[in-house]
Amino acid sequence: MMRAVIVGSGSEIPPRLVTNAMLSRIMDTTDEWIRERSGVESRHYVEPGTATSDLGVAAAARALERAGVAKDEVDLVVFATMTPDHYFPGCSSLLQTKLGLRQVPCFDIRQQCTGFLYGLQLADAQIRSGMARTVLLVGAEIHSGFMPWSCWDYLYGLSDTPPTPEEHAWNTRFRHLTVLFGDGGAAVVLKAAEGDGRGLLDSALHSDGADYDKLYVPGAGFKQRPYVSEEQIRRGDHIPSMDGRYVFKTATQRMSEVAREVLDRNGVAVKDLALVLMHQANKRINEHVQKILGIDDGRVLHNIQKYGNTTAATIPLLWDEAARTGRLRPGDLALLVAFGAGMNWGATLVRA
Ligand code: ACO
Repeated sequence: MMRAVIVGSGSEIPPRLVTNAMLSRIMDTTDEWIRERSGVESRHYVEPGTATSDLGVAAAARALERAGVAKDEVDLVVFATMTPDHYFPGCSSLLQTKLGLRQVPCFDIRQQCTGFLYGLQLADAQIRSGMARTVLLVGAEIHSGFMPWSCWDYLYGLSDTPPTPEEHAWNTRFRHLTVLFGDGGAAVVLKAAEGDGRGLLDSALHSDGADYDKLYVPGAGFKQRPYVSEEQIRRGDHIPSMDGRYVFKTATQRMSEVAREVLDRNGVAVKDLALVLMHQANKRINEHVQKILGIDDGRVLHNIQKYGNTTAATIPLLWDEAARTGRLRPGDLALLVAFGAGMNWGATLVRA
C-alpha cells in the first residue's frame, strides 16, 4: 500500500531566550509558579521583523537537506499556523517563494495545536491518492506578537525603566496565558513509499466548535466592523482569551480518548510504542494522559521546559529532536497526540 513516509525533518528556534525570571520583572509571577503549574522553564522569542514564514523557511530548508530532497521535487506545501505573517495571504505561498520552490499548490491550515496532525493526514491523503509524491509540511508560530506588554527592553535587561504600575497590572492580567507560549518552527518532508511498512499507519481527527470561546481571540475578526478598532485593543480583545481550567480538563480527557481510539483499532499496545509525542500545552496535562494510558516516562519526550507551548510547531519540533538524537529510528512505532483551540484534537500512528 502507498503511504506517506517522513523522510526528513528540521527546526528553527529563534536565538532570544526568555526565562521565567525575566518575565517576573514585568508582571506579578514567579519562576516557581510557572514551573510547578506548567513545566515551562524558558521560551524563545523572535526579534521584530522575523515572520512566521521565516521560521518555516529555515526549518523547511533543513528538513529538505536532511531528507536529501531537492526543492524541485516538492509538489505540495502545507503550512499549519495560527499566527500568520498577515491576515491574508497565508504563510504557505510566502514560504514557496522565499524557499524558491516550484509554483506548486500551497495550503494554509488553521487547527492550532492539532495543526500538524491535520497536516499529516492531508499530506498522506494527497500521497495515497496520487495527487502528490513529495510534500513539505510546516508548523510554525510567533506567539510573541500576542504578548500585551510594551516594556521589551526592560524584559531583556536592556533598559533600567520598569513598567509603570498600570502597565504592570495590565501585563499581570494576561499572566495565566502569556507565560505558557514561545516562538518556533519545524518542518517535515513526506514522500510516497510502497510496501516497507513505514509511514503514516492511521490517524483519528476530531473537532467540536461548541466551546470555541474557551480558547480564542475575541477581537480582530470579521464578526466585528471594523474588524479591528482602538476600542478592541483598549479592551485587550486582540489577545487570546483562555479558560485554563476548562482547557486543562478537556485536553486531558480528549487526548486520552483519541490515543486509545487509534491504539485499539490498530491492535497496538503501549509497550509496542518507541515514543509518544504529545502536544506541549502544560506538562501536567501530559502527565495525566500518561497515567491514564499507562505510558512510562521512557517512552515520552518533552520540550515544554525549553520552548513553552509552540502550538503547530510543537510536535514536529519533538519529532525532529527525536530523529536527530536517535530516540526515534527508522522502523520505530510512534504515537502523536494533540489537543487545541477549536476545539480540535487527534492522534496519529506512524512507523518512522
Ligand atoms: N503567575 C502567578 N500566578 C498566576 C499565574 C502566573 N503566571 N497565572 C495564574 N495565576 C494565579 C491565578 O490568578 C490564580 O490566583 P487566585 O487563586 O488568587 O485567583 C491562581 O494562580 C490559580 O489559578 P488557576 O487558573 O487555578 O491555575 P491552574 O493551576 O489551573 O493553572 C494554567 C493555570 C497553567 C493556565 C492551567 O490551567 C493550564 O495550563 N491550562 C491549560 C492551558 C492550555 O492547555 N492551553 C492550550 C493552549 S493551546 C492552543 O490551542 C492555542
